[in-house]
Amino acid sequence: MKKIIAFNFKMNFNYNEVRDYISNIKGKLNNKNIVLCPPTIFLPYFISDEYSLGAQTISEYDNGAHTGETSCSQLKSIGGSYTIIGHSERRQTQEEDDLLINAKVKKALESGLKVILCIGETKEEYDMLRTSKVLKREISNGLKNISTNLLENVIIAYEPIWSIGTGIIPSNDEISKTIDFIIDTTFSTYKFRPIVLYGGSVNEKNIEQLNQIENVSGFLIGGASLDSSKVLKIKEVVEK
Ligand code: PGA
Repeated sequence: MKKIIAFNFKMNFNYNEVRDYISNIKGKLNNKNIVLCPPTIFLPYFISDEYSLGAQTISEYDNGAHTGETSCSQLKSIGGSYTIIGHSERRQTQEEDDLLINAKVKKALESGLKVILCIGETKEEYDMLRTSKVLKREISNGLKNISTNLLENVIIAYEPIWSIGTGIIPSNDEISKTIDFIIDTTFSTYKFRPIVLYGGSVNEKNIEQLNQIENVSGFLIGGASLDSSKVLKIKEVVEK
């Protein structure tokens, strides 16, 4: 299977930067397993059949009186096919809890979107050897009461929170063991074997090394997304 590379721009770029960025990537990605997730306001500028488009989060509601939100059908109407859900920044600063994340996952899957569900432990939880416990809870709550046929559109992104934006990454062996744990736990809980991405300080320098981990089915990338030359380098290594 072709690996997925999802680029999360977070709340970066203004309009002029978006225009430059788009002209830099035009004609160079050519891979629908590359998912660009720009800020919602810029999503329409990125419409292209050269790659896939995703949102950084999505509303749990269908439409209507929900100021500031974006619905799954709105995303789909511009050709968006993915959404990230449960990113640690939303869990922490927007106080999204497992219940809300589960409602969003359900809504997105029922709407026909592919979901990148982010899970991961904090540094404190890691130090206290609670990683498995946290991941188990996030998997079990995040995917609760979802029909089995919809689960095949779930991609799990393992992102140790202490690795996001810090330049610190777990060893290949550690990532591999944790991903095995995630696959086994999801299978024993929901009889579904997920595709798992790794995220946390992935860049054009460490991608060669991280790409060797056999059970990693792709990457979720933040900081390095902002430089189109880094994106192209990462793509080149992963596609090799
Ligand atoms: P990073 O972000 O690549 O900047 O560490 C990853 C993420 O937040 O998904």
